[in-house]
Amino acid sequence: MHQRDIRNIVVLTGAGISAESGLATFRGPDGLWEGHRVEDVATPEAFRRDPTLVQRFYDARRARLKEVEPNAAHRALARLDAEWPGALLIVTQNVDDLHERAGARRILHMHGELNSAWCLGCDARARWTDELSSQPPCPACGAEGMLRPDIVWFGEMPYEMERIDDALRDADLFVSIGTSGAVYPAAGFVQTARYCGARTLEMNLEPSLGSTYFHETRIGAASVLVPEFVDEMLGNRTVR
Ligand code: APR
Repeated sequence: MHQRDIRNIVVLTGAGISAESGLATFRGPDGLWEGHRVEDVATPEAFRRDPTLVQRFYDARRARLKEVEPNAAHRALARLDAEWPGALLIVTQNVDDLHERAGARRILHMHGELNSAWCLGCDARARWTDELSSQPPCPACGAEGMLRPDIVWFGEMPYEMERIDDALRDADLFVSIGTSGAVYPAAGFVQTARYCGARTLEMNLEPSLGSTYFHETRIGAASVLVPEFVDEMLGNRTVR
């Protein structure tokens, strides 16, 4: 596909793009936390059963965020965004803030964000970078013990689905980076985009579960493949 034909690029990212920053993926060898499967602490049932355990899990992940930095893959996408204004939408399953810190602008966090808290009492959302397990009061209504991580757990509805669906339908190019393709609805985005006419490309350490749906699969580390892809995309800009 020639760059001249591309106006809208949707990039879906998963845990693999942040792995080289030092954040563990979910289904890799480090995908455990204090002996719990991640899925077992990422459900509404787990939160009802043992809220302190779940809060501590997210407190640990939120604290870890402060120790890591965006890597070359996050930075390359930010460069694409800066040098081709308006073309790129990043849809991320990640709850970290590494795309933002790299400088990308249009980002939809479909699975929520670690640095956000949601009050089950008044429904307010607040930026939150500290721990929640000590049951701090809600900054909006003052209720104690009502703040939960603003994370979409298994069995909950992902955020921004309408905007994502519109973007997939308008996409000329759909690129999936660092996701295993194990979790829907994100795993099905390639099919929507392709059905609606987009070229589809995945970049991952191994073929994802949905790799047969992609026109092209590139195998390797995101920190190498994504900068190469962005160079390729920006290489022909003058002919647009
Ligand atoms: N470069 C590219 N790909 C990588 C790298 C890397 N450096 N490191 C790992 N990967 C790949 C792995 O091979 C794997 O296929 O990234 C993928 C990560 O897959 P998962 O751990 O399943 O993460 P993800 O697909 O984002 O999980 C989806 O599941 O637990 C939930 O809500 C959570 O958003 C998450 C969702």
